Amino acid sequence: MALRCPIVSVLGHVDHGKTSLLDKIRKTRVASREAGGITQHIGASEIPIDVIKKVCGNLLQMLKADLTIPGLLVIDTPGHEAFTSLRKRGGALADIAILVVDINEGFKPQTIEAVNILRQCKTPFVVAANKIDLIPGWNSKEGPFVLNFNEKNQHPNALTEFEIRLYENVIKPLNDMGFNADLFTRVEDITKTVCIIPVSAKTGEGVPDLLMMIAGLAQRFLEQNLNLNVEGHAKGTVLEVKEERGLGKTIDAIIYDGIARKGEYLVVGGPDGVVISKIKALLKPKPLDEMRNPRDKFKPVKEVVAAAGVKIAAPNLENVIAGSPLRIVPEDKIELAKEEIMKE
Ligand code: GTP
Ligand code: MG
Ligand code: NA
Repeated sequence: MALRCPIVSVLGHVDHGKTSLLDKIRKTRVASREAGGITQHIGASEIPIDVIKKVCGNLLQMLKADLTIPGLLVIDTPGHEAFTSLRKRGGALADIAILVVDINEGFKPQTIEAVNILRQCKTPFVVAANKIDLIPGWNSKEGPFVLNFNEKNQHPNALTEFEIRLYENVIKPLNDMGFNADLFTRVEDITKTVCIIPVSAKTGEGVPDLLMMIAGLAQRFLEQNLNLNVEGHAKGTVLEVKEERGLGKTIDAIIYDGIARKGEYLVVGGPDGVVISKIKALLKPKPLDEMRNPRDKFKPVKEVVAAAGVKIAAPNLENVIAGSPLRIVPEDKIELAKEEIMKE
């Protein structure tokens, strides 16, 4: 039986660097191709476990735990104030989350909104304190933060400025919202204190540390949720309905549980009732590729195991809207799925 890939949502205020950080991890350039530099949709990409292990290297020893997660499905959300519903959807899907905060700007309205969403969903999270390269005098370089954070590599004034911004702009606002929080290297119990990982999406500093902490949190989550085995039919959420050349209307979806198979039926909620449609094709982006902005073509697959992003080609999708719940089931389970969907 397969283990479900934990879902990691990335939340935070507009332009604090969510997409850039994911670009650094994926080695993509999604942020620079967005209209006005603003994310307007939910994105999804898979990070395989071997990529995590490679980026983290020796740092993984800090975890004192073996990684058995198959990888992570990372969900990018928009920070612009207009997209509260997308943030809520991204927050609700998440098993764990990364809150991205510009360490120089500190907490902003959508940072606070994101924390409230995570609190409401009881989603464990870490904070990526981004843009440390902009701290005056900071000597930022690619690689682990723990190797760069010392008097040998940093001027004393830069270290002082770092501590001030870390406390004033990140720790204190979290304390004010009722959370204990500290620099991750100073945290003894991650169940009681929110870990802050300083990063730069520009230089890549801290990216290994962030991935290490996220993998650790995901592993803990997995061990506490023994229902993470993937079984049963696929449950998911519609991210977007899109016209594709040669395929007609398609659905980009997140499958958060179960297994979807080609030839099964799509059962999806809509404003005028439930839509049922026989699936023509299940298409998957390549690992590390972003659903919305793929570099490569999607590949047709026979089955999709949660959690994953998938493009679904099927007839009669004209009335489907983003945010709707979906199921993918064999013919004899259509009625059951329909009842489930109507309850959601
Ligand atoms: P929305 O999705 O629109 O909310 O924004 P976002 O949080 O995804 O931020 P995005 O990745 O679009 O980055 C916003 C701007 O900040 C871009 O110009 C990035 O190049 C810049 N930026 C992001 N991270 C860093 C960083 O670590 N250092 C510096 N100097 N600039 C950064
Ligand atoms: Mg973005
Ligand atoms: Na942006």
